[in-house]
Amino acid sequence: MLKVGAISADPTELRRAYGCFPSGVTAVCATIGDEPVGMVASSFTSVSVDPPLVSVCVQNTSTTWPRLRERSRLGVSVLAHRQDAACRSLSNKHGDRFADVHWEPSADGAVFVHGATVWLDCSVHAEVPAGDHAIVLLRIHGLRADPDGEPLVFHGSRFRKLAAL
Ligand SMILES: Cc1cc2nc3c(=O)[nH]c(=O)nc-3n(C[C@H](O)[C@H](O)[C@H](O)COP(=O)(O)O)c2cc1C
Repeated sequence: MLKVGAISADPTELRRAYGCFPSGVTAVCATIGDEPVGMVASSFTSVSVDPPLVSVCVQNTSTTWPRLRERSRLGVSVLAHRQDAACRSLSNKHGDRFADVHWEPSADGAVFVHGATVWLDCSVHAEVPAGDHAIVLLRIHGLRADPDGEPLVFHGSRFRKLAAL
């Protein structure tokens, strides 16, 4: 029988375990002035239909989130399966994250990534401290979805694509 070991002090082991859970990948973006600002979050989860809420978890060390959280609207784009390069770019620590990313702003300053399978026009609803992350609840004000679009999948520190069974 598989034995469940006690959690060691090594966070790598915990991250490896978390990485067994496959997820999609989202880009959370807004304009500041005329410039797009954004980050990638694979911790996206749908939360509630009424009211319409989704969540992402953001690292407390993020330097981008404090800038985004002040915006009245945030665009959440669910990346499509050929957008691994855009994902890497949008999560770069240095340089222009949007250099090779096609995007468009809404009138309220949400930024959406072209080619994504879903666009959610959101505002920050609540932020709950949770260890070394914050759980950010986002309220959806508008959306555009392509349910047939193939999503980008993140699993075990690698990008993958879905296969139908
Ligand atoms: C596939 C992938 C998923 C990520 N998911 C998250 C996430 O859910 N939450 C988060 O805070 N950062 C996540 N990141 C890291 C951020 O996108 C980004 O690299 C980080 O915010 C950069 O630091 P900064 O916020 O100081 O600019 C992810 C990065 C990658 C490549």
